[in-house]
Amino acid sequence: MEVKFIPIDRIYQEVKETLFKRYDKVYSRHDQFNGPMQDACQELLKELSGREYVRLASSGTSSISLMMMASGVKLNDRVVVTNYSCPATVTPIKMIGATPVFQDINKYGQMDLKNLPTCDHLLVTGLYGDNVDWEAIEALDVPVLNDSAQSFMSESNGIESTKFGLMSIISFSTNKICPVFGTYGAVLTDDEELDHKVMLMRRNGYKNRDVGEAIQYLGINAQPMEDKSAQLLTSLEKVEVWQSRRKEIKNFYDEELKKIGVTVRQSPINSETNNHKYCIFVKDKLMFRDQMKNLGVDCQLHYTYNFSKTPVYEGVSKTDYPWTDFYKQHAISLPSSPWHTLSEIKYVVECVKQSITSEDIKLCQKM
Ligand SMILES: Cc1ncc(COP(=O)(O)O)c(C=O)c1O
Repeated sequence: MEVKFIPIDRIYQEVKETLFKRYDKVYSRHDQFNGPMQDACQELLKELSGREYVRLASSGTSSISLMMMASGVKLNDRVVVTNYSCPATVTPIKMIGATPVFQDINKYGQMDLKNLPTCDHLLVTGLYGDNVDWEAIEALDVPVLNDSAQSFMSESNGIESTKFGLMSIISFSTNKICPVFGTYGAVLTDDEELDHKVMLMRRNGYKNRDVGEAIQYLGINAQPMEDKSAQLLTSLEKVEVWQSRRKEIKNFYDEELKKIGVTVRQSPINSETNNHKYCIFVKDKLMFRDQMKNLGVDCQLHYTYNFSKTPVYEGVSKTDYPWTDFYKQHAISLPSSPWHTLSEIKYVVECVKQSITSEDIKLCQKM
């Protein structure tokens, strides 16, 4: 059997009928950037997040850039950021010329909030579809930006993850809980002025070049596109159903993997995960990945970076990042999408059984 990490072709089969009707409308219109698909997505996202303002953008990465530019992150500002995430979390800091100040993760894979260094801004990431301790963060006297690319629809103390922070962002890339084909993004806030800036900045800083108005801000081209918005709208209408399927898979894995003593990443207290990733710990993740591959199962290495040791990300570093090192060496994600069948998920468990060693199981003791 072959188990892909995300069977994209099955997403396509599920959405294509609705999608093609929408494409027909989209490609018959004059405006390919702003239109009814964008408006419908933004309205739905406001409902799901509880945010006052939502602007779609071309990707999660461009959304982080827009969030930072709009909130005033500037040259040489110190931005505390997790040392372990997708590279897109830290790239926009460097592109602006600000200085990343790297903070280790904790055993849940979230930014460690103990001994936070002084900074001008805090960039928080909800890794693996979970949440940091937002109560502790909100008590801090510093502007907080929320990279909730992965954590959309997870909850912290019953509040949806993207509601936290001065501003937050979502990624809709194919491996996220509400995917498009390729990627797409959104910037969210409750501040009207910041939202206005994002609206202009996602379009090179101007509103309408034909009316001769002054350009007020530097911007980038990260405009939403109506055909992508059609994809997103179709996914947003399905996401609740997909989420319940993710939960079923998580519960199945939890039960079966416990029987064989596999160490599974846990959610922090007060964080209700969206099950974006199902992450386990093994002694040697590269070897485990290869063994699973030989059995036909595609596992992914999330992640293999230690930002503080990455020369292009040069910033302020500590000497030790023990949990980054632990995750870098041991954390690996199993296929767990809503589009996997039960027999595939059972097969993954069988393959884990075959590939796991007593050394892997001993890792439990370290957690
Ligand atoms: C934590 C995090 N931030 C940002 C991004 C960037 O999103 P995109 O791929 O849509 O640019 C990702 C995507 O993988 C992510 O996982």
